[in-house]
Amino acid sequence: MNKITIGKMENAPVINKNIYGHFAEHLGHCIYGGIFVGKDSPIPNINGIRSDVVEAMKQLNLPILRWPGGCFADEYHWRDGIGENRKRMVNTHWGGVVEDNSFGTHEFMELCRQVGCEPYVNINVGSGTVREMAEWVEYMNSDGDSTIAQERWANGQKDPWNVKYWGIGNENWGCGGNMRPEYYADVYKQFQTYCKPYGDTMPYKIACGTDGEDLQWTEVLMRNAARFMDGLSLHYYTIPQEWKDKGSATVFSDELYLETLKKARRIDEQITKHGAIMDRFDPERRIGMIVDEWGCWHNVEPDTNPGFLFQQNTLRDAMVAALSLNIFNRHAERLQMANIAQTVNVLQAIILTDGEKMLLTPTYHVFDLYKDHMDATLLQCMVECGLLENGLEKLSVSASRKGDTVMVTIANFTDEATVRIDGISAKNVSGRILSGSPRAHNTFEAPDAVCPEPFTGVRLFENYAEAILPAHSIVALSFEVNSNP
Ligand code: AHR
Repeated sequence: MNKITIGKMENAPVINKNIYGHFAEHLGHCIYGGIFVGKDSPIPNINGIRSDVVEAMKQLNLPILRWPGGCFADEYHWRDGIGENRKRMVNTHWGGVVEDNSFGTHEFMELCRQVGCEPYVNINVGSGTVREMAEWVEYMNSDGDSTIAQERWANGQKDPWNVKYWGIGNENWGCGGNMRPEYYADVYKQFQTYCKPYGDTMPYKIACGTDGEDLQWTEVLMRNAARFMDGLSLHYYTIPQEWKDKGSATVFSDELYLETLKKARRIDEQITKHGAIMDRFDPERRIGMIVDEWGCWHNVEPDTNPGFLFQQNTLRDAMVAALSLNIFNRHAERLQMANIAQTVNVLQAIILTDGEKMLLTPTYHVFDLYKDHMDATLLQCMVECGLLENGLEKLSVSASRKGDTVMVTIANFTDEATVRIDGISAKNVSGRILSGSPRAHNTFEAPDAVCPEPFTGVRLFENYAEAILPAHSIVALSFEVNSNP
């Protein structure tokens, strides 16, 4: 039988709720159509922002949202997106479409206000200037009566927004300027100097990290700029096949399903490898690792704009999310934030829209099942289970505790499995489950084909519990515990 042993950890870290963060870029129909429809739209909205999407985001207690990119961030000039008469530009990265800038700083902050989440703003290093960045920070955070703050008042916002999280560039080794790490480290230091505190808001400054493979980038950034940063990013996408032909989001073999999970599992290795470099320069772990882009990247759906990155989302994607979030929880000591790419209609979206229609993807439901891990204390969790033919463990697990509740989340990748959970003495247990075929997904015609249900396959014994996990299932168990762990 499979066995999970739960126990207390020494100096156990709290799982930063920002690990359950999200990312919305000006890309395809993520912002326009997906989040923002304008005040005059027949789609129900508040100040132009879709109410159905906001409600869905609120339901997840979505903690933080990164914006405006991605690659778009390094061609975005924030002044184009404030006030009347907004400038129209070409979104050269994503489909060459005209961006009318009707969603800008004020609209983003309004979105965060409606959702109740923290904003994370990514500034333009690749094609922007230090002054442009400094003035954006001042525009958003200054409570004085400088000319720039007055401009904000004139645009309808008297109080400063006190934005804490600032990303200084994005993928500056690639779309953000094709820089060498030595060069970027210098540019980073220069930019961050002028990313100033206003009032009580100390900016949390995030330097651009690597896409996973480039250990040298992390080494150079840490050596040259560690003392000037609060966070260092890491991007990791799961591409089932290869970059040129990533594979269909919905049509795939069982073998590719398992291969996809194996590739997703590599994020653990990446966090460990880059974390080890960070540890050498920052043994106290002051600097947060920020996985501000992650998720599955498939081929776009047939007959859609290749530059819009619109893909369906199956139980396979949900498994990748469940596995990744378990890994993130386990790295809670170093990992301070993660943002799945992207919120609506792009890549591994949690929400898809079509005109006035909206659906929640299987990945959305994983965030819902896991949300009680946010701000909980990590528990030790040893897993004894078999390996799949491709060498992957059959189960992925993490556990945390908040008050008298112990939360255990388990992803069972293949056949039905019985699992004994040791180290728990509980009064009650309740659970929810998401399961189906790896290819199962929600459509606008059948939006609830994959959605969570109560899980009844768990029994409590004096000092342990036993659960029968159906094939291809993700289960969240909530134990009301007597004492340990
Ligand atoms: O999320 C899509 C793109 O992937 C982002 O714009 C970029 O940062 C990454 O390469």
